[in-house]
Amino acid sequence: MTSKRNILVTSALPYASGPLHLGHFVEYTQTDVWARFQRMQGNRCIYVCASDAHGTPTMLRAESLGISPEKLVSEIAEDHRRDFENFSIDVDNYQTTHSDENKELTAEIYKRLKKSGHITRHTIKQAYDTQKSLFLPDRYVRGECPSCGAKDQYGDSCEKCSATYTPMDLKNPVSVVSGTKPSVRESEHLFFKLENFQEELRTWVPGHVDDSMVNKLNEWLETGLKDWDISRDAPYFGFEIPGEDKKYFYVWFDATIGYMASFLELCRKLNCEKEFDDFWTENNNTELYHFLGKDIIYFHALFWPSVLSGAGYRKPSGIFVHGFLTVNGEKMSKSRGTFIMASTYSKYLDPDYLRYYLAAKLSSGVDDIDLNFDDFIARVNADLVGKLVNIASRCSGFVHKYGKGQLSNTLPNKNLLDNFITAGEKISTDFESRNYSKAIRQIMKLADLANQFIDEEKPWIKAKDKNKTEQVVQACTLGINLFRILIIYLKPITPALAKRAEDFLNIPPLTWSCANKPLRGHSINKFKSLLERIDPKDIEAMIEETRKNFSEDEPSVSKPEEKIDIDLFSKIDMRIAQIMEANIVEGADKLLELKLNLGDNERTVFSGIRSAYKPEDLKDRHVVVVANLKPRKMRFGTSDGMVLAAGPGNKDIFLLSPDNGAEPGMKVK
Ligand code: MSP
Ligand code: ZN
Repeated sequence: MTSKRNILVTSALPYASGPLHLGHFVEYTQTDVWARFQRMQGNRCIYVCASDAHGTPTMLRAESLGISPEKLVSEIAEDHRRDFENFSIDVDNYQTTHSDENKELTAEIYKRLKKSGHITRHTIKQAYDTQKSLFLPDRYVRGECPSCGAKDQYGDSCEKCSATYTPMDLKNPVSVVSGTKPSVRESEHLFFKLENFQEELRTWVPGHVDDSMVNKLNEWLETGLKDWDISRDAPYFGFEIPGEDKKYFYVWFDATIGYMASFLELCRKLNCEKEFDDFWTENNNTELYHFLGKDIIYFHALFWPSVLSGAGYRKPSGIFVHGFLTVNGEKMSKSRGTFIMASTYSKYLDPDYLRYYLAAKLSSGVDDIDLNFDDFIARVNADLVGKLVNIASRCSGFVHKYGKGQLSNTLPNKNLLDNFITAGEKISTDFESRNYSKAIRQIMKLADLANQFIDEEKPWIKAKDKNKTEQVVQACTLGINLFRILIIYLKPITPALAKRAEDFLNIPPLTWSCANKPLRGHSINKFKSLLERIDPKDIEAMIEETRKNFSEDEPSVSKPEEKIDIDLFSKIDMRIAQIMEANIVEGADKLLELKLNLGDNERTVFSGIRSAYKPEDLKDRHVVVVANLKPRKMRFGTSDGMVLAAGPGNKDIFLLSPDNGAEPGMKVK
């Protein structure tokens, strides 16, 4: 017997600035299938993940919602956890990178890197938003490409001509946060000396990353590795750098350390902290694999192994990279309704369908994967319902009718059974190498053979002959056993379906080695539908809901200043309203909920004026309201209009003066 492997796997940590969408589930399905397969083989496979908490986007998003970043992160992580659970992603631990463990490990790693001479300082120039008092990440500056002149490009690269540059090179640059022209400021940053690891990486990369990615990485290695900027200035949501004044670790520095931190939390929960060292120091008995998308390979195949090595930890055993999800052949799109959130999907469709479909398209390579809805419906209905579940539904009735629900002791057609059992070897090789599509092709071929066997046996005809009922039960016993083996092979992919099948078969959880121990003389339960066919109407409804969600959505960042004409301006219906009631909104530090009287109607508006006004002082005051703004769904309720105010913020937000002589409902011009 080969000995049990000790494996730790991770998926890339989803950003805590927003919810999970179906694209994320390419990766989470790929990882989970692999982890479940390993566990079914009797190996130990621990799967950890977390939400990636830090950075400017989280900070700005929290600000726009009027809540603290900590609160936003813990709420979104809760949503992420729920989505993981709904899609049967069986993680052993899930935390956020804003955790004590991560803070501790990040500080420790930084200390070790510094001590070994891998940290240096440079003064750099950076785009700065004077209005928001904020250093701008490259992607928060937009302008015209310095190479080709294309309009509205990001501050790091041009989508038209692929030129790369810094935000300062853009023509007519604009901060997407405030819409103003950024200035340039100098600041001292801390850098990780990546080039110290150039030689080590050159030998490490080829054996640890799939061949298809090695060329790309070699290109980077050939051109030489630059120092990596790991610090950010305040204001920034992150961990403060020990020994520095108001400097924070860049989100990507502590994000990968988040893998270790989530595992450390698990070890502490289980009271086995020694295991942490088993997995993170050089050790021949443990394996470490990271699953991730091709967009973040640089961080994982170059920075991360170097950081680990520089700090005296082990490097990963492998980096498993996948491609991107497209829907109906195109990039996921909000307006087409194909930017589907995980939570929207699971409202309408069984997550096992998606797991099956994605697995049927996944290989070990980095090709993009297309979710085509017609193909999705056809494939799931034909394979899972039409072929697989059909075997059980065709056989179980006869076992109940002629065998009192008990499988026979003898099985006909030993060849067919052996064929199913031996196929497990090849299928497991394909799971191991992440060629799930190949595994599924074999499994479905076997399902065809099982159906063919039943077709040839014709139990519905034989059962009419009293002398042949025993033969019928035996044939159906084989059918049920073939079904059971197929369920074993599919269990890493469709765990919820497998669970229902185990209940029907009246057996404890199946593992891989169960395949060569067929069920004989065993009582099974009455057959209940194990999986419904996909109804195309549910897909339409899901797309419709997605489209609607995004049309209500506020733009996440302000657009560069754009002039509007008088016609557009005159469409804005501004009216005087009287505040009838003002209330604090639980969980939103900046918002007040206002009940307004507009003369001929009353409504609720949420307004970010809490820092300047006490609710009790607002009663009966007049405000100017944009009355014809589309109602906007917020976390706390729907806001029906917008209160106008002026001022830089905090204590200085000015409403209409109390003695204005206006009447509720009056039009403002
Ligand atoms: N927070 C970083 C990862 C830090 S890991 C230490 C991040 N987050 S992400 O939410 O943008 O993406 C998380 C993972 O999902 C990445 O591996 C990314 O490649 C993957 N995907 C995000 N969108 C995807 C598709 N549309 N299709 C397939 N995978 C996608 O990057
Ligand atoms: Zn360009």
